[in-house]
Amino acid sequence: MSRLAGTRVLLTGASRGIGRATAAALAAEGADLVLVARGAHALEAAAREVGGHSVAGDVSDGRFVSDCIAHVRARWGDVPDVLINNAGIFALALFGETPVEAFDRHLAVNLRGPFLLIRACLPGMLRRGSGQIVNVGSVAARRGLPGNAAYSASKFGLRGLHEVLAAEIAGTGVRCTWIEPSAVDTPVWDALDPPRGIALPRREEMLRAEEVAQAIVHALTGPAGTVEIRLRGRCTSG
Ligand SMILES: NC(=O)c1ccc[n+]([C@@H]2O[C@H](COP(=O)([O-])OP(=O)(O)OC[C@H]3O[C@@H](n4cnc5c(N)ncnc54)[C@H](OP(=O)(O)O)[C@@H]3O)[C@@H](O)[C@H]2O)c1
Repeated sequence: MSRLAGTRVLLTGASRGIGRATAAALAAEGADLVLVARGAHALEAAAREVGGHSVAGDVSDGRFVSDCIAHVRARWGDVPDVLINNAGIFALALFGETPVEAFDRHLAVNLRGPFLLIRACLPGMLRRGSGQIVNVGSVAARRGLPGNAAYSASKFGLRGLHEVLAAEIAGTGVRCTWIEPSAVDTPVWDALDPPRGIALPRREEMLRAEEVAQAIVHALTGPAGTVEIRLRGRCTSG
């Protein structure tokens, strides 16, 4: 199948987990990929394997985002057809024990990063009258789960940003899709050290990264009216 042949996709957080699976699924559909993550080594390995082009950097850094979009314009002559905001961080801590730095960092990566990237791509998409922005949220964007103060604040914020975007671009030819998974079995869970009293979901009850990747493929290839996909595994928390 090559339902995305010729579609130029900028995908963040592509070096592992959901982003890595999404890169593979999009490449299998013929998409032309620019992949972003901070760690250059893992990112280049992912790009080599799926056939995309890598641009290493931090999505929360305004200068990097400008350079990245300049890179994309040089490669494709324009902003991408599709922007997928997937890069994210996740740490657990009880509210009163959440370090201010961790709170700020969650907002920077999970909220400021998508804001900067959308802001950089949207004017070009609107001028063209076409394009799609996919934002990867979380069940924690809708429910207050213990230990999730920083993460949930960032993902509720992202959902707000997404809904404002959806309202503003209605009828322009540019569309946006919200992807909202519950827990997904990715490396993000490997190093988590949950606070006392908070039980982590069981890995075997989580969604698979490939299932989220297929939901994203559906968002790009299915009916244009698909504005939101909520995925829930056997474990429905985040
Ligand atoms: N796993 C879950 O249970 C779950 C559930 C719901 C939603 N989500 C969401 O799904 C998305 C992907 O999560 P995941 O589980 O696949 O995480 P993951 O396995 O930890 O992968 C995260 C990806 O984002 C990149 N990244 C992190 N910080 C970045 C930054 N500042 N700038 C650029 N890239 C950055 C990472 O590479 P570097 O570290 O090298 O930068 C990596 O490629 C996130 O938005 C997450 O909130 C995950």
